[in-house]
Amino acid sequence: MKRTPASDRVRAEWLRRVEAEYRSTAITQHLTLWLIQAGASPDLIKLGMRICSDELAHADLSHRTYAAAGGDGMPQITRESLQLRRHEDEPLEYDITRVCVDVFCIGETVAVPLFSKLREDCTVPSARKVLDRVLRDEVRHRDFGWTLLPWLLEHPLGPQLRALIERELPSWFRRIRSVYAPPGAETRAVISPADRAWGLMAPAKYGEVLRRALERDWVPRFGRLGFDARKAWATDPASA
Ligand SMILES: [Fe+2]
Ligand SMILES: [Fe+2]
Repeated sequence: MKRTPASDRVRAEWLRRVEAEYRSTAITQHLTLWLIQAGASPDLIKLGMRICSDELAHADLSHRTYAAAGGDGMPQITRESLQLRRHEDEPLEYDITRVCVDVFCIGETVAVPLFSKLREDCTVPSARKVLDRVLRDEVRHRDFGWTLLPWLLEHPLGPQLRALIERELPSWFRRIRSVYAPPGAETRAVISPADRAWGLMAPAKYGEVLRRALERDWVPRFGRLGFDARKAWATDPASA
């Protein structure tokens, strides 16, 4: 079988994915500890632990793909970044809410259509294996966020947590846009078939997926819980 050559761009992207998956492992582990400390239900705690082990498997599989692409570098991750930040002057539930919405209701929710797009033309076996597994798991990770969020809103601190989300939602949307659709990305629409086969996507595509997720996922899902995602998306966080 003819091998698909891997470009430097392929190696850089897969190494970045190793780092991102490893960071997701740490973040989920930390959030799960917070859930234990906050007395969340065993179901939520078990889900958190399961996701943590998924993320470690994603990091491992991504590293195999990086090696299959000829990569031999090491991930660059500072230890200090492998943890969540606690705002000590506020109840723990505030920080749990921030991570729940920012990482799971927003990040893991858009991850589902993103990985589905990345997987479309991915034919290199090791890369395809990662994307198959990640896509399957991300659905559960997304659902975890949307299960945890109603639990938080029903908590005795629910009204304060709701106000916090109203306040900070614009900045979380801005963060996801800065990660996946930074200024200028919309003009970079070209990608080689070989890079697509290795599971990469043109930068311009990320912004399209994000905008579609706003209409298909965030507006209805946040709407059912009483939040206006479209308004938050259009709000400049500096003026919120
Ligand atoms: Fe992952
Ligand atoms: Fe995930």
